[in-house]
Amino acid sequence: MSANVSVAPGLLSDTVDSRVVFVGGKGGVGKTSVSSALAYGRMLEGKRVLLVSTDPAHNLGHLWDAKLGDGVTRLAQADGDTTNRRQANADRGDGGLIDGVEIDPHDVVDQHFNAVYKQMLRMLPERLHGPAKKHLDSARKAPGSYEAAILERIAENVQLGLAEYDVVIFDTAPTGHTLHLLTLPDQLFTWTEQLLKSRQRSTQYTGVLGSIVTGKNVEDTSDHDAQLRRTLIRRQEKLGALRDAMESDAGFIVVTLAEPMPVAESLDLLDQLADLKMRVASVVVNRRSPVDAGPFLAHKHDLEEVQIKRLEGEVGRIPVHQLPLLQEPPQGVDGIAAIVDSMTEA
Ligand SMILES: Nc1ncnc2c1ncn2[C@@H]1O[C@H](COP(=O)(O)OP(=O)(O)OP(=O)(O)O)[C@@H](O)[C@H]1O
Ligand SMILES: [Mg+2]
Repeated sequence: MSANVSVAPGLLSDTVDSRVVFVGGKGGVGKTSVSSALAYGRMLEGKRVLLVSTDPAHNLGHLWDAKLGDGVTRLAQADGDTTNRRQANADRGDGGLIDGVEIDPHDVVDQHFNAVYKQMLRMLPERLHGPAKKHLDSARKAPGSYEAAILERIAENVQLGLAEYDVVIFDTAPTGHTLHLLTLPDQLFTWTEQLLKSRQRSTQYTGVLGSIVTGKNVEDTSDHDAQLRRTLIRRQEKLGALRDAMESDAGFIVVTLAEPMPVAESLDLLDQLADLKMRVASVVVNRRSPVDAGPFLAHKHDLEEVQIKRLEGEVGRIPVHQLPLLQEPPQGVDGIAAIVDSMTEA
């Protein structure tokens, strides 16, 4: 389906074998810009790209001048109007496009609990509705429910990406949060498994509870139970698919700046990724100062050089790429295309 055109060597080719790419790093270093540029480069190669933001702050839509939501929105198409500027390049590709998603964890949590609440209303006798709602409200605020909801949407988007796109690129939230999420599929997988096993027991419990409250036998939970079981099994499959994808198809790109603190934090991140056995495709040093734009920036360039040497000395065989500081902050499709141009020139 896709023409095999290499738009930019280096950064783009590092992830050419990864069908799932996570772009991570400290706040404000350029994750959204780099993941968008990567998506754009892939589109110009004729690839169908799903670009997903997991960051609650959501600047993906702002960068693309588009309103994004939890469902899929078309951001660009190689043969469409949005990419005139790069039409010559795009013509070399075939059918490339980018669809964008902004996962909204609050919405996801709300939807999830509302669905559970409705299910409970149907299952429980009326006098238990009040206590059930109270219980759900506190569960909604419990630590972990927010993360579990994002993770489930990440898993769903990985499934969607693998089924209908050539590649799915995640623009992730700043470091710690993302890493925490990546450790979750295993834990949740086990947890769901236990939940499935304990369903038998809890069905009996619901029956007994119902009969105590109503004084009657509550026998009609079997349908609801089968439904809940199906939901849990579907969730299990999703988490399993995410776990498999992370082990075989995924690559991580660490974005950083050539400054002491961001470099130190990126080295920590690389250690943690190694512990998680995530494959790191490359490190991108963004906003590199030019040498030929006055003494101030030339001096900054020299200081950055020291940090880049330090980084290169520590990362072993992981490629380190540099992206220049652009005169204007990238905005819209043209701004994103400018980053891809700077990759090609690098
Ligand atoms: N190469 C570049 N040259 C000039 N400005 C850049 C470059 N890359 C990114 N920027 C600007 O730097 C700022 C941060 O970039 P971006 O939003 O991509 O970072 P981020 O890591 O996604 O941030 P956050 O952690 O807040 O999500 C933005 O204002 C962006 O326009
Ligand atoms: Mg961002």
